[in-house]
Amino acid sequence: MAHKQNYKKILECIGSTPLIQLDLDVKPTVLAKLDFYNPGGSIKDRSALFMVEQAEKDGCLQPGGTIIEASSGNQGIALAMIGAVKGYRVIITVPDRTAIEKVAILRAYGAEVHVCLNTDDLHDPRGYHAMAEHLYHTIPGAFMPNQYFNVANPAAHYATTGPEIWQQTNGTVTHFICGAGSCGTISGTGRYLKEQNPGIKVIGVDAATSLYSSKDPKAYLSEGIGIDVISDTFAKQYIDEIIPIVDADAFAMTRRLAKKYGFLVGISSGAVMHVALEYAKTLTEDDVLVVIFADSGKSYLDKVFINPVDKKCMPAKTEKTFEEKQL
Ligand SMILES: Cc1ncc(COP(=O)(O)O)c(C=O)c1O
Repeated sequence: MAHKQNYKKILECIGSTPLIQLDLDVKPTVLAKLDFYNPGGSIKDRSALFMVEQAEKDGCLQPGGTIIEASSGNQGIALAMIGAVKGYRVIITVPDRTAIEKVAILRAYGAEVHVCLNTDDLHDPRGYHAMAEHLYHTIPGAFMPNQYFNVANPAAHYATTGPEIWQQTNGTVTHFICGAGSCGTISGTGRYLKEQNPGIKVIGVDAATSLYSSKDPKAYLSEGIGIDVISDTFAKQYIDEIIPIVDADAFAMTRRLAKKYGFLVGISSGAVMHVALEYAKTLTEDDVLVVIFADSGKSYLDKVFINPVDKKCMPAKTEKTFEEKQL
């Protein structure tokens, strides 16, 4: 009889993503963690798996139960994939700024999608947060991971993203830059890295008009980033800086990453890269800067590359973007 191999199953492929060097004209070494290599296509596979498995252990999620989440896409996609594998019904509410490709992916995994008004106001009954709450209270056996308040979200990054970066850089990482939404990634990874070396700088990238970064918060076009809920998943003690970025810069760098560097990545990766390049100007050859490329540009083909919404409806910027300066 042939020797029986232990092949990996799909959920075991979450994490352990590549860390690769970018060929840039800057002094520090810049490394990108390619989290679009996760099976669900984004970094959110990590937190989704941790939250679902914690709920299973706690008994909050029973066989045949329903997972409900308010998500601008990737957390929902990760839950939809995991729900498909584990046999749960999945319902996702999204704001109507969500790229059509993401909604299509959610439905492809068999999730039910409710597209709601583009507001991040938690209390607006037309918004995606309130809709998720409403469904949670009306569907028996429902579990809401609630990524903004679930400590299993940062715990996933403390257990996986942080150790991977530390090991892949042989402990040489000096700066870590990632997008900030629920802040699970920055809080969990930041905590792990600072425990190894308190000198590591941990930097988050936020949408400029989020509730956290703006005195006059407004809806924005960027997806993934945007601190609109300030909760326990936002662990300020592990974060050195939160840098706001406008849609125009994030979108311009997303296109530049594909055209000039061959990375077809999402808007939060463009935002992070814009900040990383500015930051790199202040660093030396001894510095090792790690950025997160959290998802793929394939989810934003229409919005960023085919019919760029930032060019249609954003007011002209006063300051030139990095992309424009290079031309
Ligand atoms: C593409 C992308 N980048 C960055 C983030 C931010 O991650 P976190 O919620 O851990 O702050 C998200 C979160 O949804 C995302 O989807």
